[in-house]
Amino acid sequence: MKILLTGGTGFIGSHTAVALLERGFEVILLDNFSNSSPDAADRVREITGRDLLCIKTDLLDADGVGLAFSQNPGIDAVMHFAGFKAVGESVSEPLAYYHNNIAGTLNLIEIMNKNGVKKLIFSSSATVYRADNPVPYFEDYPLGATNPYGWSKVMIEQILRDVCAANPEWSMALLRYFNPIGAHESGMIGEAPNGIPNNLMPYITKVAAGELPVIHIFGDDYDTPDGTGVRDYIHVMDLAEGHILAMNYIRERKGAWSFNLGTGKGYSVKELIAAFEKVCGKELPKQTDARRAGDLPAAYANTALAKKELGFAARYGIEKMCEDSWRWQITGACRK
Ligand code: UFG
Repeated sequence: MKILLTGGTGFIGSHTAVALLERGFEVILLDNFSNSSPDAADRVREITGRDLLCIKTDLLDADGVGLAFSQNPGIDAVMHFAGFKAVGESVSEPLAYYHNNIAGTLNLIEIMNKNGVKKLIFSSSATVYRADNPVPYFEDYPLGATNPYGWSKVMIEQILRDVCAANPEWSMALLRYFNPIGAHESGMIGEAPNGIPNNLMPYITKVAAGELPVIHIFGDDYDTPDGTGVRDYIHVMDLAEGHILAMNYIRERKGAWSFNLGTGKGYSVKELIAAFEKVCGKELPKQTDARRAGDLPAAYANTALAKKELGFAARYGIEKMCEDSWRWQITGACRK
């Protein structure tokens, strides 16, 4: 089977490419390299000992994407990872976010339609759950968002459900990721954010490596056991596995299916830092700052549906997530 991954050299795309190649799938990566590098494709080749095709194109360039499909007939399914993903930036640049994420997806769907490819696995996010939902989040909770990035995911989900309702030949999985961290255990691929990281784990690894001076804990007065924010961290290789299970699921079904991909267990900021300190063997400098605007006290998944329907269960715990994130940081591969 031939699978095309948009955003294929990014964090989640590259790890999913490894999982697919290891299962014998043929893989095509599309990326504009706006937030990643073609090196990731080489590393995926090196890890797996298998070749893949990596094409530079932008989803907003319909001709370029059209060519990628017409020159590679027989694509069975698309995993759609490409998109802008920085919450804060989306607030200051809403048009860029809506244009890139939504218009890019519309182009992709139209081109898939023309080429008779009607299976899609979409990178959605736990951010599509409206902020007033209680935890844990169930897939049938009301949707909503608090920033343009989140709204772009809510809107794309709606568009995809509408496409499936209008055209019964389509099958789609809308995968709502919780907080992906960790890296491939080779230390050769991982998350490589541009500039100062926004997310907690890449921030911790940079402080541990001495590249940043201190971890900022955004608020310790939440209504949570230790007062800091609680999230459902999931190992990126578990997430990759979830994509393969979802692809197998929609192969036999029509319509749009939403699934949470998380572990179902929440860890606080302080617990994550403590787990990381154990793994790197040193205490890290940290300070408590004000809450970050828009953050929720707690967000974690109910995982029953993904378990029942997909057979999905996260294999890796918080220690392995920290070990692999740290290995990726210290191998130096992430600085290339
Ligand atoms: N945090 C800190 N210090 C930091 C960064 C984060 O204390 O330097 C805290 C946050 O307040 C939060 C937790 O660590 O409590 C996790 O924050 P992240 O920024 O790592 O992740 P978020 O849960 O805020 O956001 C992630 C993705 C978004 C996605 C969201 C959906 O980054 O893309 O999950 O739930 F929208």
